[in-house]
Amino acid sequence: MNKEDLKSLLISQDFDVVCLGEDAKKHIDLKEIQATTRNVLSRYKLLGKDDYTGYTAIGLQYEDESNPLYDANGQLFFISPDGKVSQSRPIKLMTKINEVGSRFKPLIDYLSSSFRVSRGRLLKAAPGFRMSSHRDGHFCGTIHYPVFTNSQCRVEIDGRNYHLPADGRFYFINVDLPHSIANDSNEDRLHITFPVTPLSFDRWTENDISTFTPFLKQLNLSEEHYRDRLKC
Ligand SMILES: [Fe+2]
Repeated sequence: MNKEDLKSLLISQDFDVVCLGEDAKKHIDLKEIQATTRNVLSRYKLLGKDDYTGYTAIGLQYEDESNPLYDANGQLFFISPDGKVSQSRPIKLMTKINEVGSRFKPLIDYLSSSFRVSRGRLLKAAPGFRMSSHRDGHFCGTIHYPVFTNSQCRVEIDGRNYHLPADGRFYFINVDLPHSIANDSNEDRLHITFPVTPLSFDRWTENDISTFTPFLKQLNLSEEHYRDRLKC
């Protein structure tokens, strides 16, 4: 996976889902990740997320020392269908790795060569789960590593349906567009996900920064502060 490709996809917003290629298979053994996931599920409790029934999670990373396992669970902000942004809590990057994340180090290490990996989570969508359509925010993407899934699990992006297979590859989803997921099978769907935003990269050009200003504005982040930080 090439860092510049990820950055230009994020800035162009011209995609629904992009497979990040075969290279991951050389570095990460899907069977091992599946075994680790089974082990994590047997030792740890996944907790409810976003007030949904049938959608639970545990973090791989965190910021809050008092809540290392579930700090990454909740939403950071929410965009209503009419575009209004409500921030649930202060923006944190969540780059510290907890005891669950250390079991998934091969995934985190692999991605770390391309962007600042943060807020990794293991997400479970139970049989019959359906999420309502929403947007995560301007210039937001999510990298998915499907661990257990089947053809009746779908992600809908701007009205188009996709299935992300558990084939050892990463998939990059455009969550700036309206999206939702559905599990119409009778098995759990388990994905490991990592958000990608402009804050996931350094060294943007001045031009890029003016393009993604709406991302900074939606979070009430100081443009000047980030202009200095993102260019260094
Ligand atoms: Fe989302």
